[in-house]
Amino acid sequence: MNHDQHQSSQNEEDSCESSTNRPLSPWLVGLFILALFWGGFYLAFNSGGFRQDVYESNVVNWAGGGAVAAAPPDPKVVGKRLYSQNCIVCHQATGLGVPGQFPPLAGSEWVLSVAPHAENQLVLLMLNGHQGPMTVKGQSFNNAMPQWKQLADDQLSAILTYIRSDWGNNAPAIDPAFVAQIRKSDGAQSDPWTQAQLMAVPPVKDTPPAAK
Ligand code: HEC
Repeated sequence: MNHDQHQSSQNEEDSCESSTNRPLSPWLVGLFILALFWGGFYLAFNSGGFRQDVYESNVVNWAGGGAVAAAPPDPKVVGKRLYSQNCIVCHQATGLGVPGQFPPLAGSEWVLSVAPHAENQLVLLMLNGHQGPMTVKGQSFNNAMPQWKQLADDQLSAILTYIRSDWGNNAPAIDPAFVAQIRKSDGAQSDPWTQAQLMAVPPVKDTPPAAK
């Protein structure tokens, strides 16, 4: 009797142990596989093919949500962002520069293409930079402006369109196609410009598209 009792409790232990080692419920396995597939499909359809430019911050339209997302980005908004990334340290958020060091863009005859300054000279200045004496709004500067040819045509176009429209400036947009045209014509020049060289380049006027 005693022996039997012992035996039965042993059996209970055995059955208990085997229940923890039981294979997972087929339902749970099924659910897990389903979740994996769902995750896979979700990524495949919502990742934009993992293309970097889908989330390119400079191309994003900040104006609003889904309904206007298809509208082309406003060059002035994009341009302002690029300006804060690339130009603000020298020319300042006010566009006034730093006296004696960095010239103003606000009211600048170079930016506004006031004759004898021209749009193509402005684009050339941006592409290759500038070195040595330069006169802006009657003030003399003798410093160095870095080159920006690493920026794309539409980025340069956006920056120039922006600086020609803020701080009281009011000059027409510079079209990306015009930047591309001037970049092509610029084959021989790789050093920074001097003021004399730049002013010797014959003026070419940008004709912004009628839609703008
Ligand atoms: C490291 C400082 C620095 C940065 C950054 C810089 N510039 Fe300049 N920029 C200068 C200097 C200095 C001159 C004057 C050139 C000289 O003294 O030879 C100048 C001249 C200019 C001029 C012509 C003169 C005028 O004031 O109108 C324009 C236009 C201009 N910069 C636009 C820009 C834009 C747009 C950016 C950004 C993409 C930029 N610069 C970034 C230093 C800088």
